Amino acid sequence: MKKQLFNFSFAFATVLLFAQCTKDQAPTPVPSTPTLTKVQLGKLIFHSTVLSNPSGQSCASCHASTAGFADPENFAVSPGINKGMFGNRNAPMACYATYTPSFSINAVDSVCIGGQFWDGRVNTLAEQATKPFFNPLEMNITDVTMFVSKLKSTTFYSDYVKIYGETTDEQKILTNVGDAIAAFESSEEVNPFSSKFDAVLKGNATFTETESKGRKLFVGKGLCASCHLIDPDEASGKILFTDFKFHNIGVPKNPNNPFYKMSSQHNPNGANFIDLGLGDRLKNPRYNGYFKCSSLRNIALTAPYMHNGALKTLEEVVHFYNSRDVDGTLAKPEVPEGMNTHEVGDLKLTTEEEGAIVAFLKTLTDGYK
Ligand code: HEC
Ligand code: HEC
Repeated sequence: MKKQLFNFSFAFATVLLFAQCTKDQAPTPVPSTPTLTKVQLGKLIFHSTVLSNPSGQSCASCHASTAGFADPENFAVSPGINKGMFGNRNAPMACYATYTPSFSINAVDSVCIGGQFWDGRVNTLAEQATKPFFNPLEMNITDVTMFVSKLKSTTFYSDYVKIYGETTDEQKILTNVGDAIAAFESSEEVNPFSSKFDAVLKGNATFTETESKGRKLFVGKGLCASCHLIDPDEASGKILFTDFKFHNIGVPKNPNNPFYKMSSQHNPNGANFIDLGLGDRLKNPRYNGYFKCSSLRNIALTAPYMHNGALKTLEEVVHFYNSRDVDGTLAKPEVPEGMNTHEVGDLKLTTEEEGAIVAFLKTLTDGYK
């Protein structure tokens, strides 16, 4: 009874005090913590180095904004968080990947198109974004429970809860994280369409003579645009410089790929490893050596090139297309069977023309002022 009375009078006093305050001063607004958007949350997750095992690696470690959201280091392939662990492939750019359609095979001509990764094995960015955390050659988290406990230790977990709410369903939490990352990857920041090429289209800039010549060769004699389309994509109306299709263009092995030296647990074939790409994924030799055609936006920032980083510079890339089949000093294609010989390999471009194409490719870098 006594306690109740105390409580009552305490409450009464509080009310009085409160009334007093509101009477004398303008009510102080409760400082509201700013709520992040999904895109902002996704950006924090994308850059968080807490979500690897051990901590220290983020998505941005291999997909840096300064490098067209590809690997900022010119390694042949990207090293994982564990020293000495390497995947077999070069990190592609994560910018403009949001425009990639889901994977499909055309029933009439068997042409394959779309999907994320070099072999199109995942359909959406949201699903893709949940994979690297658990790849032992990348971020190396052992299971979803570890992932969730790491997420809960981040400074942005409270922001996560504000957007997605709380749940004990760990799989659902992972799915939500994928959703937030995909929102960031689909944002204007990652897909700005702000290159010199775009400025020229809008009439705000002009190509130099060499760039202009390069653009013509890209479409004409160089045949680049037959795969790296320069016409607006039907679905988005944007120019994306890819047909999203799979081709075998005869890329050589990359002898410097550290994957060859990985333990037999990760690479049973050792130095004899051959990346069959889509052929391996579909278990259909018709597609051996087939890889997804890349966008060329920001390509000047994303060296080395191709699925295995075999070509170091844009000059090497263009020379490869021009003379794969005629320059005896070039390394041999890794999978020569079924490679494209009608658009690639003997373009008869002069050295000067090769240079002009490179100059044009350099106009595709975002952030042109
Ligand atoms: C250790 C380096 C590394 C880390 C860390 C990493 N990636 Fe990647 N990423 C790669 C490589 C390598 C590939 C290509 C793998 C393949 O095709 O088999 C890739 C592919 C992708 C693609 C497909 C792009 C396309 O056009 O096909 C996207 C999108 C992507 N990563 C986003 C992410 C996100 C999101 C994270 C963080 C959750 C992440 N990556 C972490 C190396 C990395
Ligand atoms: C037959 C279709 C085709 C043609 C023609 C073609 N490409 Fe490609 N391109 C591809 C494919 C497929 C890849 C990925 C191949 C791989 O990694 O094995 C690619 C990759 C590239 C890359 C590296 C992308 C990266 O992220 O590493 C560059 C640069 C490039 N092409 C430029 C060009 C230029 C310049 C031309 C014209 C001289 C050209 N391509 C002609 C299909 C084509």
